[in-house]
Amino acid sequence: MTHANQCSTISRVRDSASMDQNDLTTLKNWFDGYCASFSTPRTEDQRNFTIKHDHTHEVCLNAVRIAADLRLDPRQALLAETIALFHDVGRFPQYRQYKTFDDSISVNHAALGAKVLLENNVLSGLSTRDQDVIIRAVTLHNVFTLPEGLDDETLLFARLIRDADKLDILRVVIEYFKQEEGGRAEAVALGLPDLPGYSEDVLACLRRGEMAKKDMLTTQNDFKLLQLAWLYDLNFTSSLRMVRERRVIDAMAGLLPGDDKIAGAVEMVRGYVEKRVRNG
Ligand SMILES: [Fe+2]
Repeated sequence: MTHANQCSTISRVRDSASMDQNDLTTLKNWFDGYCASFSTPRTEDQRNFTIKHDHTHEVCLNAVRIAADLRLDPRQALLAETIALFHDVGRFPQYRQYKTFDDSISVNHAALGAKVLLENNVLSGLSTRDQDVIIRAVTLHNVFTLPEGLDDETLLFARLIRDADKLDILRVVIEYFKQEEGGRAEAVALGLPDLPGYSEDVLACLRRGEMAKKDMLTTQNDFKLLQLAWLYDLNFTSSLRMVRERRVIDAMAGLLPGDDKIAGAVEMVRGYVEKRVRNG
């Protein structure tokens, strides 16, 4: 049975009722089946698929925690988890076709994810309102900055998934650089060369509290600096508390060259996170 058929057998006409826990279970089952359909005996490719499957699970946990900290209502908490479940669904066809997670040389994986959900009628059992907010948040999860003029609910869920996602990408990147080279899921570091230097422009972005753009990256150290700068883009105090609990800054600092300029920028980020947590 195809995924589309599986979904059509469970679809119901539902124009107004909110999603419930059973809906989420059905959607999780669809996601697991979809991931399994990409499994391959090619070790390197499977490693990249597995890393995205595991990333999705962790992003779901982050989203659930942020939703609880924000005291979202039951419907909103389920939507937050559903958006986390599907935010990177486009990574699977992206990697299968292009063998990369670099959108700039392949395809926008967020738009592709929305297309996968729509073409397979994955959300057809949900109300139109719930479907719309899921598709919008999935589509917006990877934009550099959110557009102006979003409605309140789209803004809430877009901010939430962006935080939940960044928090786990930091984990993935830290684990990636801790691993021996032969065991790494190579698509994580976007194919950047592992050279000892770094770009002054990327470091300057970090010092200004700004996010660097991916096209500025020249080495893997730049990639690590970009990841640290993401901490300035986190929306919720809950997310910054998780950064502190998980000792993300220490872990990233341990992966970077130990010069004074980098140490100074790292301390600026640390000061920012501490202040945000203190101020609630
Ligand atoms: Fe993503």
